[in-house]
Amino acid sequence: MLSALPERHPLRSYAAEAPLIRAYRGDRPEVTPVWFMRQAGRSLPEYRALRQGRDMLDTCLVPELASEITLQPVRRHGVDAGIFFSDIMIPLRLAGVDVTIEPGIGPVVAEPADSPEAIERITSLELTDAALEPIREAVRLTVRELEQTGTPLIGFAGAPFTLAAYLVAGRPTKDHMPVRTLMHAYPEAWRQLAQWAAGVTGKFLREQVLAGASAAQLFDSWAGSLPKRQYVDRVVPHSRAALDAVRDLDVPLVHFGVGAAELYGEMNLDVDTVGVDWRTPLDEAIQRIPGDVTVQGNLDPALLGAGWEAIEPAVRDVLERGRSARAHVFNLGHGVPPEADPEQLTRIVELVHSV
Ligand code: CP3
Repeated sequence: MLSALPERHPLRSYAAEAPLIRAYRGDRPEVTPVWFMRQAGRSLPEYRALRQGRDMLDTCLVPELASEITLQPVRRHGVDAGIFFSDIMIPLRLAGVDVTIEPGIGPVVAEPADSPEAIERITSLELTDAALEPIREAVRLTVRELEQTGTPLIGFAGAPFTLAAYLVAGRPTKDHMPVRTLMHAYPEAWRQLAQWAAGVTGKFLREQVLAGASAAQLFDSWAGSLPKRQYVDRVVPHSRAALDAVRDLDVPLVHFGVGAAELYGEMNLDVDTVGVDWRTPLDEAIQRIPGDVTVQGNLDPALLGAGWEAIEPAVRDVLERGRSARAHVFNLGHGVPPEADPEQLTRIVELVHSV
């Protein structure tokens, strides 16, 4: 086991015994591990200070900055994991796609992949090893620091469908109609696009793991917009391909979707952990997910603004429901909203660790 990981990888030393990794693998450590999706970012004043006047995706590609931003929430909240500061759009940018994150809008692609011809152009782009060097360097710098406190780093990537939702529409859309229409209008072009996206996103994920990440999470944030048939036939094979890019490395795998309650029966792509959004109580989600998996989630992010009197019982309720799974990693049901009070997040970490 672990044979494909480099000799000095954290999973061969300190990270293997970290509560997060043990829980992902099905163990119940003394404390329930906790981290937050989007724990790095606009809720933190130290993040806003660093980002002043700097473009989002450019920032991700400066190793010292990406590393520092990854570490900020770990220092501040005492969470059980760092999640690498980057973005699901980064491998597309590194392959040569003209993509930016526009403030107040989100990901914007200059030339959308909205026809078979446009898909032909995009899928001729290649993500080279050399282009990924800033990612490897940022991960190495980060892991060097995290080792001091025994904290593992989570690597991540966007699932092919979520990436394609942006590539096809060129910007965020309601219900992801353009990509869902394209799937029906041009099934072969869809397959080509999804296969290409799986390749670049899988490579991005693999490089993070090889450089020192000890777990890998695939975000299929928009999978919940799909009918089950479409999800199973046209999306699952590509998500599986993205996960297969790291399977031989034997790091715990996490699969997460938003609004995907109808899909839980299909989301265990031989992963260790399934991430559950805030809509489905953990004990119900566990009933629906086949196989013996750990669950991750799922405090409603809306509670963060509701005051401690509302937060505390909700945190306890999530912990209670998480007991019906083999193991539980506490998280929110989606990312930290920018307006969240970081002190409430720190208090949640303390509470989860004390229960
Ligand atoms: O702390 C972490 O969780 C790590 C960093 C991280 C970011 N994006 C940084 C980021 C992660 C894991 C992501 C994943 C990501 N990016 C997803 C999947 C998770 C999810 O939220 O569903 C998606 C869909 C994206 C695409 C994307 N990037 C969106 C929709 C946005 C928001 C745009 C906005 O203005 O709110 C981004 C930008 C982004 N990525 C920010 C951060 C911290 C905010 C931009 C900023 O700080 O200027």
